[in-house]
Amino acid sequence: MPYLLGTESETRAMNVIRRRGWELPERLATPEHLAFSRRSLLAGGASALALAPHAALAQRVSDLDKMPDPTADLYPAKRNEKYVLDRPITDEKINGNYNNFYEFGTTKSVAAASQALRTRPWTVKIDGMVEKPIEIGIDDLIRKMTLEERTYRHRCVEAWSMAIAWTGFPFAKLVDFARPLGSAKYVRMETFLDAKMAPGQRATWYPWPYVEGLSLAEAKNELAFLATGAYGHPMAKQHGAPLRLAVPWKYGFKSIKSIVRFSFVEARPKGLWEALQASEYGFWANVNPAVPHPRWSQATEEVIGTGERRPTLLFNGYGEYVADLYKGLEGERLWA
Ligand code: MTE
Repeated sequence: MPYLLGTESETRAMNVIRRRGWELPERLATPEHLAFSRRSLLAGGASALALAPHAALAQRVSDLDKMPDPTADLYPAKRNEKYVLDRPITDEKINGNYNNFYEFGTTKSVAAASQALRTRPWTVKIDGMVEKPIEIGIDDLIRKMTLEERTYRHRCVEAWSMAIAWTGFPFAKLVDFARPLGSAKYVRMETFLDAKMAPGQRATWYPWPYVEGLSLAEAKNELAFLATGAYGHPMAKQHGAPLRLAVPWKYGFKSIKSIVRFSFVEARPKGLWEALQASEYGFWANVNPAVPHPRWSQATEEVIGTGERRPTLLFNGYGEYVADLYKGLEGERLWA
């Protein structure tokens, strides 16, 4: 069985065609439909949600969540023209219907299911090695920052890519706001944990919540961006509303969605994928066409929406900004 797919026929189709990204070894992969149906027998109503049609999930949004986004007036933000693309921006509809958001399912079609994500109220915790740990509401946090638009490439470890116009603020601004102590070396980020809201989190073989990390130097690099919106408006839920990371020189799994916590820490954090399968997904995960994933080549990528195959670029084309971050670390596994 390849990685966790929705239906038996999808599973069979994938086995026949090719094994692709995110596949987990047999021992880690419990067929999702079996796991959920077994649990729904045991637990009754609550887990029936896992099997409910997407439309029903979408209706579960809270009243608060139906209110207009309290920061909608900040969009569209002015584009920062420094970050230019070598390809057109991916069509929003295409991008918004081809997502990885394992909290809401293991296929790319999680847009409808992810409408169950409640994005207000949303509190962000900043803790660890900081002068003063705080909790702050997302709208207060956003209004403390100046939003800008940036066009970035996105390269998934599965060898596909897109181009997006994110809106947000530099991670460096959050670091300034957090005032980390000199002993902090890394930033650990965490996604919400709510298995009632996010059926994917009932899959106990994943070490929820989703966690990712950056070195403090990476977080302070000008490219590291905390996105609150995309395509000129507040972030669609499937892209990781209300706050997600965009680190375009790294494989996409580093760009954690729906963040609720930033912890400034001394030890290197272990991300969800590294915890699951360290031989395939490491900490640095920088894009490098010359270093294949253990099970597939990274030399080229499929441009979603056009079907074009392009050569993949070192650091996804962002070497001029980030290559210096890794000087002296050549002995480490820098590439996924
Ligand atoms: N963050 C969370 N919390 N859960 C996820 O499943 N998937 C990652 C990343 N961040 C993921 C996540 C992967 S593998 C990719 S490629 C990108 O989100 C996909 O972002 P997109 O759906 O906006 O293209």
